[in-house]
Amino acid sequence: MAVLFDSVQKTLTIQTRQSTYQMGIGPHNSLLHYYYGPKIEGDSMAYRLRYADRGFAGNPYEAGKDRTFSFDYLPQEYPVFGVGDFRTTCLTVADAQGGRACDLRYGSHKIYEGKPALRGLPSVNGDGAQTLEVCLQDTAGSLSVTLFYSALEEYDAITRWAVIRNTSKEPLFLEEALSCCLDVPCDQMDWVTFYGRHAMERQLDRAPLRHGNQGIESVRGASSHQQNPFVILCDSDAGERTGCCFGMSFVYSGNFIANAQVGQFGHTRLTMGIHPKGFSWKLEPGESFTAPEVILCHSEEGLGGLTRRLHRLLRERVCRGEWSAKQRPVLINSWEAAYFDFDCEKLLDIARAAAPLGVDLLVMDDGWFGNRNSDCSGLGDWTVNEGKLGCTLQELSRRVKALGLGLGIWFEPEMVSEDSELYRSHPDWCLRNPGRATTRSRYQLVLDMSRSDVREYLFSTISGVLQSADITYVKWDMNRHLTNVWSAVLPADRQGEVYHRYMLGVYHLLERLTAAFPHVLFEGCAGGGGRFDAGMLYYTPQIWCSDNTDAIDRISIQYGTSFGYPLSAVGAHASACPNHQTGRTVPLETRGVVAMAGTFGYELDLTRLPEEERNCVKRQIAFYKQHYQLINRGDYYRLTNAVKNRKYAAWMTVSPSKNEALFTIVLLESVTPPEFVRLDGLDPEKRYQINGGKEAFGGAALMKAGLAIPLFTGPNQCWQAVLTQV
Ligand code: GLA
Repeated sequence: MAVLFDSVQKTLTIQTRQSTYQMGIGPHNSLLHYYYGPKIEGDSMAYRLRYADRGFAGNPYEAGKDRTFSFDYLPQEYPVFGVGDFRTTCLTVADAQGGRACDLRYGSHKIYEGKPALRGLPSVNGDGAQTLEVCLQDTAGSLSVTLFYSALEEYDAITRWAVIRNTSKEPLFLEEALSCCLDVPCDQMDWVTFYGRHAMERQLDRAPLRHGNQGIESVRGASSHQQNPFVILCDSDAGERTGCCFGMSFVYSGNFIANAQVGQFGHTRLTMGIHPKGFSWKLEPGESFTAPEVILCHSEEGLGGLTRRLHRLLRERVCRGEWSAKQRPVLINSWEAAYFDFDCEKLLDIARAAAPLGVDLLVMDDGWFGNRNSDCSGLGDWTVNEGKLGCTLQELSRRVKALGLGLGIWFEPEMVSEDSELYRSHPDWCLRNPGRATTRSRYQLVLDMSRSDVREYLFSTISGVLQSADITYVKWDMNRHLTNVWSAVLPADRQGEVYHRYMLGVYHLLERLTAAFPHVLFEGCAGGGGRFDAGMLYYTPQIWCSDNTDAIDRISIQYGTSFGYPLSAVGAHASACPNHQTGRTVPLETRGVVAMAGTFGYELDLTRLPEEERNCVKRQIAFYKQHYQLINRGDYYRLTNAVKNRKYAAWMTVSPSKNEALFTIVLLESVTPPEFVRLDGLDPEKRYQINGGKEAFGGAALMKAGLAIPLFTGPNQCWQAVLTQV
């Protein structure tokens, strides 16, 4: 049993393979948090709460003269604003009189097998899970909050979400409705987040906790390049192999906040959910609101242990559909090869060059539709520009298929160009404040995805294109953030709902399209990796990681990404040199091995490659396909710290049986490689051959003394070693 109720101690305990989470029904029916950490069996952890009279702490009325019970000190499962918890909270509610106080107490709980779906939202597959539902009631009867905890034992994960219901007779307005709170009675920990910008996403940032708030957020309408909705709280001495770590990953792709607050008593409160800025939600009597799911994961085997648990969970329980487990195609994308300047013959030339090299799929990127010859026009007009292409889509797909490749296609469904037929016919379909000039970004405006007529138009035009030819892949892009967020179909008191309704609309359309075209592989994208989150992975099992294809920059982008997301989710392509984003020239071998640490492909004009490089591409594709399972299903180990080690980067994947491993090293600034790199994840008892050599080395020696690295002859060179058990 993963969830246990002890009616004597009044504890609710969630056990996973190696972790324990415990809450208890405390004095005055409060729901208090007792413990989350390494596994402990049989004990009540209520002793961790110290009841004492604390200066300036409020006490609930029914505590009478007892000044030792205060919500401002006690760790809680779902803190609310207004009745004495002055820390960050999960819930702020305004009632019809304008009052902002609510007081939640334990009402009842249920424990059951499985996991309910979250209507309209992405969520973790709960096969084999056990769920605890705790219902909290407001003392004045205004609302109830049901907290959900689903235990996925073998992943050491608990997923959490909340449903808030108006149980009063008047409307309520949610002003803050976060998904999850974790109170940790300690402040000697590090806070790890992933910041960035366009073309430089998910850079690791690690710092000791400070007093007060440290948070990350997005109010851009997308989870963003700037901060990723995934955070780690870990022991200050936690490393790749040791130390306790908590990971929190938001299964949501819109505005978010994740905050760590160190309070006056040295406790840390971690909260995550939809960003309250620009948010309010009107709940009529009887209506409810679902705060999206958060994945909580625990590891006492360091950051590496946390990574491997999350990789498996996201791969197996978040990604869905036939492509979640199926071998992904090696693709060639037209963007950096031709940008907007292509026709059918150009694409076929690329396909002809690609076919003998082992490429599986040609992706026709931006520029094939409407009047789209630059980024100034055409978005929204999802009809094939046959004049530009010189053929129909069906003919193109037939001819590409005859060469042995599949055909993929790019869409940016959520956007509209002012210079488009769609905008001319439906100027009211975009987000915009009445009577105010709107904000352009990349010359485009954002469609109001909360509108069912907008979604209906997109579903019918996109499915029309997908039905008109043999299309096996869709790249779903989103190239600007949301501003002027106002919807023409909602009343004034519901305009605070638009950001979230927009996201629900995007999910709704994705759900419909992925269900209607189950054989099509959808890849997510938002100006590269600007919406790289567990929410999108529910619909698109891979996401273009960054518009920056420079292999050396990609090492730090993919390093940061690897903490929370599996390699099978990371769209990575080798591109031309000098690199279009950075101007750097890196050997093709290195561009290949870096892109291979993801869903592999190319983004260059193959027709222009000299024969020697074409042979290199052919070898890389053959190698990738040969080791596909190892790379995409293996356990991932970071061997160097990309933030601290500017000399070289090394990583490896190990098969679950530990019979096989793939090691990769890339030289960064230095031309002098290390003599040895200590490996990880091998079986110390097994012996391994390196690249089929005669000599075998013990797993223990390779992990403790290291693998010998050959000499290099220049900067940015790389070396890979396949380790096979003998
Ligand atoms: C975004 C994507 C690119 C490409 C362009 C096309 O920037 O990240 O890969 O598809 O849009 O406009």
